Amino acid sequence: MKNELLVQLRRIVGDDWVVSDPDIMQSYLVDVTALPVRPVPSSDVVVVKPADTREISTILKLANELKVPVVPRGGGTGCVGASVPTLGGIVLSLERLDRILEVDRDNLMVVGEGGATLENLLKAVEAADLLFPPHPGDEGAQLGGLVACNAGGTRAVKYGVVRQYVKGLEVVLPTGEIVTMGGKLLKNNTGLDLMHLMIDSEGALGIITKVTFRLYPRFGATATIIISFDDRHAAIRAVPRILQTGVIPLALEYVERDVIEISANHLGKRWPAAKGNAHLIAIITGSNEDDIYQQTGDVMKVCESLGVVDTVMAENREEQADILKIRSELYPVLKPQVSDVLDMAIPPAQIAVFLDMVDEIARKYDTRIITYGHAGDGNLHPHLPMELHERGQLEAVKHEVYNAAASLGGVITAEHGVGKIRLKEVPLCTDQKSIELMRGIKKIFDPNDILNPGTAIP
Ligand code: LAC
Ligand code: ZN
Repeated sequence: MKNELLVQLRRIVGDDWVVSDPDIMQSYLVDVTALPVRPVPSSDVVVVKPADTREISTILKLANELKVPVVPRGGGTGCVGASVPTLGGIVLSLERLDRILEVDRDNLMVVGEGGATLENLLKAVEAADLLFPPHPGDEGAQLGGLVACNAGGTRAVKYGVVRQYVKGLEVVLPTGEIVTMGGKLLKNNTGLDLMHLMIDSEGALGIITKVTFRLYPRFGATATIIISFDDRHAAIRAVPRILQTGVIPLALEYVERDVIEISANHLGKRWPAAKGNAHLIAIITGSNEDDIYQQTGDVMKVCESLGVVDTVMAENREEQADILKIRSELYPVLKPQVSDVLDMAIPPAQIAVFLDMVDEIARKYDTRIITYGHAGDGNLHPHLPMELHERGQLEAVKHEVYNAAASLGGVITAEHGVGKIRLKEVPLCTDQKSIELMRGIKKIFDPNDILNPGTAIP
């Protein structure tokens, strides 16, 4: 790292906030991408921890002048290497912009800084007796990162993924200007929607320093039900049928019992449903208990006609939290045996067909590809096992799985994003003209290609 750059960075943020000691930097160079596919970080980087938006703006102006790459860093909970600095340059950590600024009960909005954690957001919102419904898993994720990745997760069926909650942003553009997009507004048709362009830009179009999210009133009551089937086709057939009753669960997940039990055992907990192997997990929300019973009754009625073998209902808070925890920990628990976790979106009614196709590919390669996911969203995560990497078959299998999804009208990523590891697969489901437009947009925002180069845009 050039001395001149270090001197200037220290001048901007102060000596204490520039880190170049390789040992301390280590944790800033990785995310949770599976090891065999995780990009290799450059060793020629410096970690900078600005105090505020103004300092970030100054750093980006400097980076443009010196043509030095800058990689924004949030909680490091991404799965596709977006925050891994693969070129020499600056890792810009948002960790000091960590405040929840305001919970506005009357407008049902929360405003927080880009480096505030999801955990702190949830606490502040709960203390105000309100609700931020989505739960992308790791609560160490930061607000800017949640927006930059358009995080999804389990609780997206009823009210959508993070995109649906973002109402306002403050962004530092790659060239250093500070811009405000949207606000505490539910409707806003003023010109082209640059705010939505920022959402899911994976740190390539700007650094998100402040976020306004929409909130909801807390549910009067919730229940989590595990609906067990012997046959996955029956389980998946139940998904649209449940939604057609008018009951829209907060979450509607598909897991297989022998897999979810691995996570439960790891956490020292018991998976409460012992029968059948194809399980749906539905989180039902309502205004009061009667409302919940009415909704779960409707769900059960549909499932009975489809061959349900067991239903377990968790009503108390702790049991429900346990089920969500066991589900959320699946990937971290399986990760050591996984060479890549895929993230397909397919039309929801085709999920069972896709699962069968994945099993067929697994048989061909003499392996098992564990797959589970967000059934209500048509979003599945095939886990390609480590042995495929060891046998040199990872790329071939991945391609077959991608092609299976594409043949059903699916795409290569639903919620994890493109990051640095899925760039070459984007053309499988995106036409060339669209890719050219993306490149043109990147060029307008970031003429010197300094902000998170080689990420999100093929
Ligand atoms: C999940 C992650 C892998 O759904 O997206 O658990
Ligand atoms: Zn997921």
